[in-house]
Amino acid sequence: MAMKDYKQFLLLLAAAVSVGFVCIVFVLQWVLYFKEGLAWDGGLAEFNWHPVLIVTGFIFMQGIAIVVYRLPWTWKCSKLMMKLIHAGLNILAFVFAAISLVAVFDFHNGANIPNMYSLHSWVGLAAVILYGLQIALGLCVYLVPFTPGHLRAAFMPLHVYSGLFIFSSVIATALMGITEKLIFGLKDPKYKDSPPEATFVNILGLLILVFGALILWIATRPSWKRPTEQLLISQNTNGGGAAAPKGGTALSAYGSTGRDEPDANCDARKRSCKQEESEQKSSV
Ligand code: HEM
Ligand code: HEM
Repeated sequence: MAMKDYKQFLLLLAAAVSVGFVCIVFVLQWVLYFKEGLAWDGGLAEFNWHPVLIVTGFIFMQGIAIVVYRLPWTWKCSKLMMKLIHAGLNILAFVFAAISLVAVFDFHNGANIPNMYSLHSWVGLAAVILYGLQIALGLCVYLVPFTPGHLRAAFMPLHVYSGLFIFSSVIATALMGITEKLIFGLKDPKYKDSPPEATFVNILGLLILVFGALILWIATRPSWKRPTEQLLISQNTNGGGAAAPKGGTALSAYGSTGRDEPDANCDARKRSCKQEESEQKSSV
């Protein structure tokens, strides 16, 4: 099935994946070259797992999980398969985040540093808890087979909003954490004297921000949404090569006219609209 502005999509996706990879290389370079390396010894090398696991798991993997439905070459895969991939990647990202928290709490307890005193730790822990809740609700609503279609449809705008909100909070938390670590960690020369490590890690922060911006852009373009199963099936049975209808229901945004929520403005088309709604509900 054709996708509108396919080249633009590919370009942005390639940019997001590349920037994400560079973030992972930067965080590894930071802890292995500038800092104490990685170990599970209760010391600073154990703390270093915290940024590494956050950037690879909670930022990169979560970003990919969010846009996975939008990859047009997966549109021929079943919805169930895509749900399993989306949920699986999110669960893996959660495991990385949880281990990264164990590392930092363990390090704090070993070094007698108080827990949970900073804004970074408050927002960070809240994001991890909300993320866990989002996974639990996502599994109950979209993977348990007997959840009614209308509930799935009604919950979708909230699911998408909270997913994007948590992802944005994670990016903000990472920027706070990076700044804190540079202020605490750089003694001679200090952070304000701009040693090479400070400049390098500031760039890592910028790259994380750019990664977040690209993922949010891709995930909020209505025309790049995965079409409804009905549309995909009818495209396949009609030869499969036809272009997607411009601004059609299948490619519209979540919202009052989206396919995951009843259309409030469809009086004139009541009959066909009703049929469309029930089809939409069965495909979420
Ligand atoms: C501490 C979460 C990213 C640096 C903490 C703590 C939490 C947390 C809950 C408190 C641990 C305790 O009280 O014992 C998160 C989350 C992140 C994240 C959810 C996801 C974005 C980062 C990054 C860095 C970082 C990328 C960069 C190095 C720190 C530092 C501390 C800390 C220096 C110790 C100081 C403090 O408690 O604020 N983090 N963190 N964090 N984190 Fe993060
Ligand atoms: C869609 C986030 C977990 C099922 C979405 C979207 C976001 C998102 C941002 C919109 C994607 C788009 O418009 O292309 C998250 C986050 C999760 C999570 C952050 C974990 C914390 C889950 C789980 C399930 C699930 C566990 C269970 C299967 C779905 C479904 C869609 C969706 C069915 C609709 C896809 C479509 O447009 O056809 N999720 N999600 N999500 N999510 Fe999740």
